Amino acid sequence: MFNDVISIHDLTSEQILYLCEKAEDMKNIEKSGQRFKLSDSLKNRKLAYMFYEPSTRTKLSFDTAMNQLGGKRDGFIGIEGTSIRKSESIMDTVKMMEANHFDVIVMRNPIDGSVQWAADVANIPVINGGDGKNEHPTQSLLDIFTLYSNNGKKLDDISIGFGGDLSHGRTVKSLCIMLSYFKDVKIYWAAEDFLGIPLELIDYLESKNVTVIREKNVKDVLDKVDFYYMTRPQLERMEGISKSLVTKMLKQYKIDMDKIKNFNGKLLHPMPVNSEVEEIEKNVYFSQAQGFLEQAENGIFMRKALLHELLKDKDYVAFNSKLDYDLLHGNNKLIRKISPKIKQGLFIDNLNTGISIDHLKYGAAFEITSKLNLADKGYIAMPAHLPPDEEFLNGKSFLKTNMELISERELKLVALVSNEPTINIIKDGIVVDKFVYLLCRNENCITRDVKEDVPPKFFNDGNIKCRYCRQKYVILN
Ligand code: CP
Repeated sequence: MFNDVISIHDLTSEQILYLCEKAEDMKNIEKSGQRFKLSDSLKNRKLAYMFYEPSTRTKLSFDTAMNQLGGKRDGFIGIEGTSIRKSESIMDTVKMMEANHFDVIVMRNPIDGSVQWAADVANIPVINGGDGKNEHPTQSLLDIFTLYSNNGKKLDDISIGFGGDLSHGRTVKSLCIMLSYFKDVKIYWAAEDFLGIPLELIDYLESKNVTVIREKNVKDVLDKVDFYYMTRPQLERMEGISKSLVTKMLKQYKIDMDKIKNFNGKLLHPMPVNSEVEEIEKNVYFSQAQGFLEQAENGIFMRKALLHELLKDKDYVAFNSKLDYDLLHGNNKLIRKISPKIKQGLFIDNLNTGISIDHLKYGAAFEITSKLNLADKGYIAMPAHLPPDEEFLNGKSFLKTNMELISERELKLVALVSNEPTINIIKDGIVVDKFVYLLCRNENCITRDVKEDVPPKFFNDGNIKCRYCRQKYVILN
C-alpha cells in the first residue's frame, strides 16, 4: 500500500477510507474480547521508537498496537541516555536502528521535515510521530477514524467545529486538509485572531469546496455541528507572548458545562489537555458529549491497522551498511549560464583561481568571512560591498576568496547569512561553474540545520516546495 507514513499529502481518499475500514476491524476485534487474535501476525518484528520530544499517547499506542500484533518494541523517549547527547546525527541514529535489525521506526522530532529525512536515509519503513510544527499524520488518521466511526462509516457530509488554538498546532490543519478530500464538509470555528485558522488554510479549503464559516462564539458553532474539536494552546510553539495573555485570549472559548448543555454531538480533543489552562473544564469530562477518551483509544486501532498493513507481507530487510550516494546531493543549485564571452566577471578581476560569492545582502560578506573561518584556514578573503544606488536599491556585498572548493555545509552557512547567494567557481581566470544556492526559508526546516547537514531538495507540484518541510519556495534572485 505504501512504505512510509510521513505526510497526509501522500495519502489518497481511497487509502484513508481503506485504513478506516481496517481500524474498524481492529476495533471490532477488541470489542469482541479477542485482543490478541492477531498476535502471530507480526511475531519477531521489531518496532523502534525514536522520540526526541515527550509523548504519552503516540508512543504508548504504537507500543500497545505492536504488542497486540505479537511484535517487539524498543528505542528511546527523550534523548537523555542516548548518544544524541554526544551530537550524534539523525542519519547515524537511523542507521543504528537498522543495524539492530528493527523492521519499522516511529519518530518524533522538533525539527520540521526531520522525519522525511529519516525516511530517505532508512531502508525500513518510517512513520512520522510528529515533526516540529509540520505534521502528525497518525494523529490525523485516528481523528478521521473517530469521525468515520461516529458518522455512519463515511467521511462525506460532516459538520465539524474547531476551537482553542487553531494556528500553532499540527492537528487542526492536517485534519482539515484530510476532510477536504471528501464531499459536503462544513467547518465552523470561533477563536481569537491570534489563535485563528490561518487565511492560507482557509483559502486552500475553500478552493477544495469545503465550507468554512467563522462564528463569533463557541455556542454559535456548537449549534451547527455534530463534532467539536477543541485544542490546547501550543505555548511551546509561540514566541514572544506570555502564557497569561494566551490564557486570557482563550477564556471565552473554553469548553464548560454551560456551553455544551444543548450540544448532542461529540467533543473531541487530540490531548493532552492543559490542566493549568483548562481549555476543557473538568465537569465536561463526565458529560455525554465527552468523546476524547474514545478518540485516544482509536489511536491504538488505527496504529494497529497501519503497522499490520505496513509489515504483514513485507520481507525482512537485510542491513546494508553501504549508504546511498544520493543522500549526499540536493537538487537546489540553480545553474546560471556561463557566457563564453565573460571570461572575467566584474567582481572576479584579480582572482585567478578561487571562489567569488555574489548577490549577498549588504554587509553579509564580512559575516560570511568569519563564519567560514577563512583566515584561520589560511585563505585570503576579500569581502566588499556596494552601497545602495539606483541599480542596487538595498546595496549588496560580495566575497572573493582563493579557497578552491566549497562544501555543502559551507554553502549552507553562506545561505543562512544571506538568501540565494550566487557562487562562481573560478579556475585560471575563467568562471567554470556558476550557480545560485537555494535553501528552504522555513527557519525550522531540517535543511537549515548545519549539524544534520541535509542537502536541500525541492519538488514542483505546480509550486516549488521543499522536499522535507513541504513549504512553498518563491525564488527571489
Ligand atoms: N496527541 C498526542 O500526540 O499525544 P502525545 O503528545 O502524548 O503523544
